[in-house]
Formats: sequence, C-alpha cells, structure tokens
Amino acid sequence: MQIAIDGPAGAGKSTIAKAAAHSCGMIYVDTGAIYRSVAYALIQGGTDTEDTDAVGSALTGIVPSLAFVGGEQHVYVNGEDVSDKIRTPEISMTTSHISAYPCVRAFLLETQRRIARENDVIMDGRDIGTVVLPDADVKIFLTASPECRAKRRYDELIAKGEQVTYEQTLADVIGRDKQDTERETAPLRQADDAVLVDTSDLTLEQSIDAVTELIRRAR
Ligand code: DC
Repeated sequence: MQIAIDGPAGAGKSTIAKAAAHSCGMIYVDTGAIYRSVAYALIQGGTDTEDTDAVGSALTGIVPSLAFVGGEQHVYVNGEDVSDKIRTPEISMTTSHISAYPCVRAFLLETQRRIARENDVIMDGRDIGTVVLPDADVKIFLTASPECRAKRRYDELIAKGEQVTYEQTLADVIGRDKQDTERETAPLRQADDAVLVDTSDLTLEQSIDAVTELIRRAR
C-alpha cells in the first residue's frame, strides 16, 4: 500500500501523515528529512551549495539512511543520527535550494522508491504523487494559506527556543514556496489524480480524520 502526500512547507503534512500512519498501521516516511540530511552533510563538509558541480561531486561521499525506532523515523547521514539537527531555518533554506538540483533529486529517487517497495508507506514530500510514486494507491495534496502555515511554523520554532519573528517566518514560507514550485525538476504541484485537502480552516483532528478517511476508503 502506497499513500502519497504532497504539499507546501507547513501545511501540516508530517503531523497529519504521522497520525494517519499510526491509526492505519503503516510506516510514515518524511522525505523532506532525507533531503535535509543531505543539506546538513553538504554544509558540514564545507561544500559550496551554490555550485551544482561541487554538490554533485560531494554526493558520492554522502550516504543517507532511515531507521524506524518504535514507529518513529530517524534519519542518518554517514551513520550519524541527524534527526534533531536538521530543522533550523538555515537547513530549511539550503534544503529547498539544493533540492532543485537534478543531481540531488536523481540521487534520492531510488532511495525513496526502495523504502516504498519494502514497506506499507505513507510518504510525504513535494513530488511523491507526481514522480516518486506515480502509481500510489491514494494521492493527497495537503495545503493551507501561507499566513496559516507561517503561524504554525512560527509557533513550532518558538516552542523549540529558536529566535525568529512571525514576519521572517512568513517571508521564509513564501520564499520556499517560490523555490519549490518554480524549480524545473520535479516542482511542487498537485498530481492530476490527487485529492486536495485544504487545512486552513480545519483543526488538526479534522485534518487527520479527513486524511485517514481517504486512506480507509482505498483499502
Ligand atoms: O518537507 P520539508 O519542509 O522538511 O522539506 C524541506 C525541503 O526539501 C523543501 O523545501 C523541499 C525539499 N523537498 C523536496 O524537494 N522533495 C521532497 N520530496 C521533499 C522535500
């Protein structure tokens, strides 16, 4: 069983997909975390992320992997668990930037498909329904207004003790939307056969119920 959930940053994909996976007995795969782990490794290795060729060469030394501990996804890069280190605004922007490079997307495509072949998955990202799993059993495009998404992301970052303002968070959300939707390779877009779920006016519970119901109907 393959469920593809795509949508812009901050639409609630990971929280909703995680809860739906739990109630449907499936594995939740956060593909953004895999892209983030690559950005983390590039920054740590001092690679110039503006230089596509330098990024392409550096990829040969980067081995991302996932493990599921008590149903919870941990992401590793070259054996190091980086799950707690990849959520900063700097990593978010760099990830959005390097994920536009075809070499990065090609590098991670097979990794994602292999995980989906080996498990019943709810996979979230930007191009899961359009590129990674075009034959997914259910495709959902989860979105919300930029202001709503920025407020949620801002609250999350503040709760973690990050020093950010709402205005900066909104600017980041809009900037990432632009980068993610306007890139040439695998841009963020709703697959023709995806169901649109707009969570702007839904509570978290209602959003989880809406997604879980779509999955249940397909089983
Ligand atoms: O879902 P996220 O915010 O953790 O994703 C971080 C960045 O990674 C996002 O700006 C776009 C990129 N990404 C992607 O291009 N394709 C995916 N399948 C997942 C994430």
